[in-house]
Amino acid sequence: MRWVIPILLSLASTASADHNGDHRDIVAGQSLYADNCASCHGANLEGQPNWQSLNADGVLPAPPHDGTGHT
Ligand code: HEC
Repeated sequence: MRWVIPILLSLASTASADHNGDHRDIVAGQSLYADNCASCHGANLEGQPNWQSLNADGVLPAPPHDGTGHT
Protein backbone atom coordinates (compact mmCIF):
# COMPACT_ATOMS: atom_id res chain seq x y z
CA MET A 1 0.00 0.00 0.00
CA ARG A 2 1.66 3.22 -1.13
CA TRP A 3 0.24 5.35 1.68
CA VAL A 4 1.90 3.20 4.35
CA ILE A 5 5.38 4.36 3.40
CA PRO A 6 4.96 8.12 3.98
CA ILE A 7 3.26 7.36 7.28
CA LEU A 8 6.16 5.15 8.34
CA LEU A 9 8.66 7.83 7.33
CA SER A 10 6.86 10.54 9.28
CA LEU A 11 6.57 8.28 12.32
CA ALA A 12 10.25 7.42 12.10
CA SER A 13 11.29 11.07 12.19
CA THR A 14 8.98 11.75 15.15
CA ALA A 15 10.18 8.72 17.06
CA SER A 16 13.87 9.50 16.68
CA ALA A 17 13.61 13.18 17.64
CA ASP A 18 15.07 12.93 21.16
CA HIS A 19 17.49 10.11 20.78
CA ASN A 20 21.11 9.25 21.33
CA GLY A 21 22.27 8.27 17.87
CA ASP A 22 20.28 5.06 17.87
CA HIS A 23 17.24 5.76 15.76
CA ARG A 24 15.05 3.20 17.46
CA ASP A 25 12.73 4.11 20.30
CA ILE A 26 10.85 1.09 21.56
CA VAL A 27 8.58 2.98 23.94
CA ALA A 28 7.58 5.60 21.37
CA GLY A 29 7.06 2.86 18.82
CA GLN A 30 4.69 1.03 21.13
CA SER A 31 2.41 4.02 21.56
CA LEU A 32 2.70 5.02 17.90
CA TYR A 33 1.66 1.50 16.93
CA ALA A 34 -1.26 1.58 19.38
CA ASP A 35 -2.41 4.97 18.07
CA ASN A 36 -1.87 4.47 14.34
CA CYS A 37 -1.74 0.79 13.48
CA ALA A 38 -3.56 -1.32 16.08
CA SER A 39 -7.00 -0.35 14.75
CA CYS A 40 -6.32 -2.48 11.69
CA HIS A 41 -3.37 -4.73 12.57
CA GLY A 42 -4.64 -5.54 16.08
CA ALA A 43 -3.46 -4.60 19.59
CA ASN A 44 -1.51 -7.88 19.71
CA LEU A 45 -0.33 -7.79 16.06
CA GLU A 46 -2.96 -10.39 15.19
CA GLY A 47 -4.28 -8.68 12.04
CA GLN A 48 -7.91 -8.76 11.01
CA PRO A 49 -10.08 -11.89 10.83
CA ASN A 50 -9.75 -13.92 7.61
CA TRP A 51 -6.94 -11.62 6.46
CA GLN A 52 -5.94 -14.09 3.72
CA SER A 53 -9.29 -13.75 1.92
CA LEU A 54 -10.73 -10.82 -0.01
CA ASN A 55 -13.45 -9.09 1.99
CA ALA A 56 -16.84 -7.91 0.71
CA ASP A 57 -15.18 -4.84 -0.87
CA GLY A 58 -12.78 -7.06 -2.81
CA VAL A 59 -9.69 -5.95 -0.85
CA LEU A 60 -7.53 -7.89 1.58
CA PRO A 61 -7.94 -7.15 5.32
CA ALA A 62 -4.89 -6.13 7.37
CA PRO A 63 -2.42 -9.01 7.87
CA PRO A 64 -0.78 -9.86 11.24
CA HIS A 65 2.70 -8.51 12.05
CA ASP A 66 5.63 -10.37 13.54
CA GLY A 67 7.84 -8.82 16.22
CA THR A 68 10.01 -7.08 13.62
CA GLY A 69 7.08 -5.28 11.96
CA HIS A 70 6.99 -7.58 8.94
CA THR A 71 3.69 -9.07 7.90
C1 HEC B 1 -6.85 1.40 7.78
C2 HEC B 1 -6.29 0.13 8.24
C3 HEC B 1 -4.77 0.05 8.43
C4 HEC B 1 -4.00 0.84 9.27
C5 HEC B 1 -4.44 1.97 10.19
C6 HEC B 1 -2.63 0.36 9.11
N1 HEC B 1 -2.60 -0.68 8.22
FE1 HEC B 1 -0.94 -1.71 7.62
N2 HEC B 1 -2.04 -2.74 6.28
C7 HEC B 1 -3.42 -2.67 6.15
C8 HEC B 1 -3.84 -3.56 5.10
C9 HEC B 1 -5.29 -3.77 4.65
C10 HEC B 1 -2.69 -4.17 4.59
C11 HEC B 1 -2.59 -5.17 3.42
C12 HEC B 1 -2.38 -4.38 2.14
C13 HEC B 1 -2.57 -5.20 0.91
O1 HEC B 1 -2.64 -6.42 0.99
O2 HEC B 1 -2.64 -4.58 -0.16
C14 HEC B 1 -1.57 -3.64 5.36
C15 HEC B 1 -0.25 -4.00 5.14
C16 HEC B 1 0.78 -3.58 5.93
C17 HEC B 1 2.15 -4.02 5.77
C18 HEC B 1 2.64 -5.01 4.71
C19 HEC B 1 3.27 -4.30 3.54
C20 HEC B 1 2.30 -3.86 2.52
O3 HEC B 1 2.47 -2.74 1.98
O4 HEC B 1 1.34 -4.59 2.19
C21 HEC B 1 2.88 -3.40 6.72
C22 HEC B 1 4.38 -3.53 6.98
C23 HEC B 1 1.97 -2.54 7.47
N3 HEC B 1 0.71 -2.68 6.96
C24 HEC B 1 2.34 -1.75 8.52
C25 HEC B 1 1.50 -0.83 9.14
C26 HEC B 1 1.96 0.11 10.15
C27 HEC B 1 3.38 0.18 10.70
C28 HEC B 1 0.87 0.86 10.49
C29 HEC B 1 0.81 2.04 11.46
C30 HEC B 1 1.73 3.15 11.14
C31 HEC B 1 -0.27 0.38 9.69
N4 HEC B 1 0.18 -0.63 8.90
C32 HEC B 1 -1.55 0.89 9.78
C33 HEC B 1 -4.27 -1.87 6.88
C34 HEC B 1 -3.88 -0.89 7.78
